[in-house]
Amino acid sequence: MEATVSYSKVALAIITISCGLLCLIAYPTMACPLTDRNVLLDFKADLADEDKRLSSWHGLNCCTWSGVGCNFGTGHVSLLDLNGYNLEGDIHSSLFELAELEHLDLSDNYFQGNITPHIGMLKKLSFLALSDAGDANEFYVSLESLSNLVSLEYLVLDGLNISVGKESAEAVGSLRNLQELSMSGCGLSGPIPNSLVKLTSLLHLDLSRNSLLAQIPAWFENVTAHLLSLDLSDNYNLGGDISFIGQQISPSLTRIILSRTAVEGEIPSAIGNVSSLESLHLFNTRIEGKIPLSIANLSKLFSLDLSHNNLRGSIPPSLGSLSSLSYLDLSYNQFNGAIPRTISDLVSLKHLWLDSNGLSGSISLSLLDNLTRLEYLFLSNNHLTVSSDSPWIPQFRNLQALRLSSCNLDRIPPFLVTQYGMIELDLSANRIATDIPSWIWDLTSLYYLNLSCNQLTGSLPSSLTSMTLMYLDLHNNSLEGPLPLPPDAHLLDLSGNQFNGSIPADTGAYLSNSWYLSLSRNNLSGAIPDSICTPELQVLDLSSNMLSNMIPPHLIRKCSSLNVLDLAENHLEGKMPAEWGNLKEINTLKLAGNKLRGLLPSSLSKCHTLQVLDLGNNKLQGTIPHWIGKLSQLHVLVLRSNHFHGSVPRQVIDLSNLQILDLSHNRLSGPIPSNLTNLLAMVNESQSNPNHLEKYTLDGAIYTNKIVMSWKGGDGEFVKVLFILKCIDLSNNNLSGNIPLKMGSLKGLIVLNLSRNHLSGPIPKTLGDMDQLESLDLSINRLNGKIPLELQLLTYLEFLNLSYNMLDGKVPHGGQFLTFGESSYLGNPKLSEIPFTNTTVCNNSSGYDNCTSIETIGVENSDAEMKGWAIGLGLSYSLGFSIVIGILCFNNRIRKRVFNLYDDAVLAVDRCITGNK
Ligand SMILES: *[C@@H]1O[C@H](CO)[C@@H](O)[C@H](O)[C@H]1NC(C)=O
Ligand SMILES: *[C@@H]1O[C@H](CO)[C@@H](O)[C@H](O)[C@H]1NC(C)=O
Ligand SMILES: *[C@@H]1O[C@H](CO)[C@@H](O)[C@H](O)[C@H]1NC(C)=O
Ligand SMILES: *[C@@H]1O[C@H](CO)[C@@H](O)[C@H](O)[C@H]1NC(C)=O
Ligand SMILES: *[C@@H]1O[C@H](CO)[C@@H](O)[C@H](O)[C@H]1NC(C)=O
Ligand SMILES: *[C@@H]1O[C@H](CO)[C@@H](O)[C@H](O)[C@H]1NC(C)=O
Ligand SMILES: *[C@@H]1O[C@H](CO)[C@@H](O)[C@H](O)[C@H]1NC(C)=O
Repeated sequence: MEATVSYSKVALAIITISCGLLCLIAYPTMACPLTDRNVLLDFKADLADEDKRLSSWHGLNCCTWSGVGCNFGTGHVSLLDLNGYNLEGDIHSSLFELAELEHLDLSDNYFQGNITPHIGMLKKLSFLALSDAGDANEFYVSLESLSNLVSLEYLVLDGLNISVGKESAEAVGSLRNLQELSMSGCGLSGPIPNSLVKLTSLLHLDLSRNSLLAQIPAWFENVTAHLLSLDLSDNYNLGGDISFIGQQISPSLTRIILSRTAVEGEIPSAIGNVSSLESLHLFNTRIEGKIPLSIANLSKLFSLDLSHNNLRGSIPPSLGSLSSLSYLDLSYNQFNGAIPRTISDLVSLKHLWLDSNGLSGSISLSLLDNLTRLEYLFLSNNHLTVSSDSPWIPQFRNLQALRLSSCNLDRIPPFLVTQYGMIELDLSANRIATDIPSWIWDLTSLYYLNLSCNQLTGSLPSSLTSMTLMYLDLHNNSLEGPLPLPPDAHLLDLSGNQFNGSIPADTGAYLSNSWYLSLSRNNLSGAIPDSICTPELQVLDLSSNMLSNMIPPHLIRKCSSLNVLDLAENHLEGKMPAEWGNLKEINTLKLAGNKLRGLLPSSLSKCHTLQVLDLGNNKLQGTIPHWIGKLSQLHVLVLRSNHFHGSVPRQVIDLSNLQILDLSHNRLSGPIPSNLTNLLAMVNESQSNPNHLEKYTLDGAIYTNKIVMSWKGGDGEFVKVLFILKCIDLSNNNLSGNIPLKMGSLKGLIVLNLSRNHLSGPIPKTLGDMDQLESLDLSINRLNGKIPLELQLLTYLEFLNLSYNMLDGKVPHGGQFLTFGESSYLGNPKLSEIPFTNTTVCNNSSGYDNCTSIETIGVENSDAEMKGWAIGLGLSYSLGFSIVIGILCFNNRIRKRVFNLYDDAVLAVDRCITGNK
């Protein structure tokens, strides 16, 4: 959006070019001096001229050559404009002997080497443009060599590699006549050069896309006092108080571009005095506070972008007086209140972006009727109720993108039938409970269609042949009938509907460019066609259908880019295909909940990138192979409920990233490996980087990892917690021997389930070191001895089951033991003094009130985190969660409340989470 060409440059180019033409026309026979001609021919001789742009450079009269202009008084060459000629090679240093040269433009070429200090001989040069004159690695200019060009008024060096020490950046200070200085993307670092203050004639300053840092200095006001345009954007570490734009700023300033810098503070109300202002771009900075009312005085304002900041308050109705405004972007702030009705007065508006704020109230789209130029309208993720009146046909006919996600819409706006140019339509997360009108499929420019998370019904045309759709997201609706397949979808998410029938055998023909395909949670049956895998595909999710038959043996061969393959919860049978080794990039493989049999194919051992391997609830057999230890990236290994026998391979404990190990419900025997300290992720109390574990996001589409696990004595499906949960479940096997002492070193473990084995010996005291443990199940073993008092230290323990062992002695009476009932100890006839469980304990002396307030914090947090999930901040979620844990006191009732909330949140993830609370 930011104009890259500054007006003055264009103007000057026009003036000089037309002057050059005039000279040529007026004095067609004027001959250039022989010396100038020879200099130009030498220059040409060193260059490769692929496009033959210098083909006119022959003969005597160099003044008629392409790109060359002569001074009509002296007859000498005064202008050389080779912008975009694609010349390649070194610049012959004799070029700088053209002493009468006033205008030199070598931009957009492929020059190499240095500009020699000889350039300083061009004492009359007033215009020098070298933007992208050569590749940054191959062509260098030192600012010092330019410092003698005392007549220079325009200096444009965008994209050149000026590898500056401080001194050379200061060199521009000697160019006292400079009116325009543009050094965008020049690799400048350090603070804004002091010498700029000496450039008292400067009108246009562009230092964008550098690595400038520190604060904008106080003296900078002396520079802005006479500027017409200022661009410091994309200097991420350049800070300072935004109020500098209010102090001594020139009322003639037309552009202020400070986007993606670290400027902070509130927009000063003095901005209203900058009466010529046309563009104000402050997106993605650190500014906060309200929009000053004085902004309504900026009658020439054309483009206002304040998005991605911390601005709050309401949108001032007086904004409606900005009749020149074409671009208004206030998205991703904290604005609240209603959208002012005066928005309808912004008759020049093309882009209106108000999404992701806290705006509320009802708005009818017909309010925008007079915005005849409207092209982009984004209102998503506020608290708005947007309606669209049925007979209304808007005056605008060129809408290209409409985003109304989470806007409480109850229908697809009927006026869209008039907008044939629509490219992007997002109506997700509303409450639209109708059929999809067939005219949608006639919007032949539509590229992105997201109607997910509504209650849409009916079936779709099975072939969407006329569509340009590359992104089709209809997940979580109530659509039915056969699968609709657009001919060239890059992303297709039809999950969570009731589509039925089989997946067509020729599906692959529709998916040649697909990278995301999810058909999960439908009623699809029949076999998986092996054409479904295409070389580009990164996510293939067919889970939770009724697909049957074998996994096609060659499925994987065609799917070499696959990151996620999820075929879980179907009726697949037969053996796992032999050739998994082709999946060089896979990180999630889930085949759980099928009827697969046979051994684990050894080719799996080559999938070194695998992070999640879930093969639970099948009929796999044999031993757990040693090569499992080679899958060093594994975070989740679930082989529960199969027929594996033999021992737990020692190599499992080499998996230093492992967070979830579930080998329960098999026929494993022998001891638990004793040296567990290599399970670093479990030793470590902190949470891991969620990485691709939680979910896999591809351009807006999200594949969510879920997993079925036992926790607190019951089975649950866990979503979005994989990187918080650290769990070992070896229950329901035939394991024997002692519980290893080293188990206690797994200080990050939250769930430990060793129940229903043949474990013997005492409960190790070291288990008291497992600070994070919430659920401990050692029931139905042959454990003996006393319950170690150290277990009282497990302050987060919420579920304990020691029943049906051979324990003796007293049950401890401290810590969480006060909260467990008799059922925790059943079947241990020698145990005595089971504590009463009706006690409410809170360690805090002031107690209950504090706990109540903690409860509230828990609620708020979980709410905020829900929003966090929706916008993909998995990490902030984990932080928020640990805060909740961290402040819990020992009151079980409160703990339960918070945890239930948390569990609800976990279960809620399958519903559509939106920005709405
Ligand atoms: C700029 O030039 C320096 C050498 O002067 C070189 O080390 C550096 O890589 C170049 N930077 C870019 C972006 O090409
Ligand atoms: C800026 O201008 C003020 C007066 O307008 C002057 O006193 C001051 O010295 C100037 N600062 C610099 C660094 O030139
Ligand atoms: C705007 O300019 C007027 C006149 O020069 C001046 O009186 C006023 O203080 C300025 N406003 C701000 C906020 O600087
Ligand atoms: C559109 O403009 C007309 C004429 O100025 C005015 O009467 C009408 O109220 C405007 N409509 C809206 C929705 O503001
Ligand atoms: C356990 O593992 C650690 C870390 O690899 C190693 O230093 C130690 O020798 C091992 N101990 C035994 C008994 O194998
Ligand atoms: C638990 O305590 C409540 C009130 O403190 C009491 O009414 C109830 O009978 C107690 N229950 C048991 C099982 O002791
Ligand atoms: C909570 O506890 C702190 C100190 O532990 C105390 O200062 C504060 O007053 C308590 N809050 C309430 C609401 O009781």
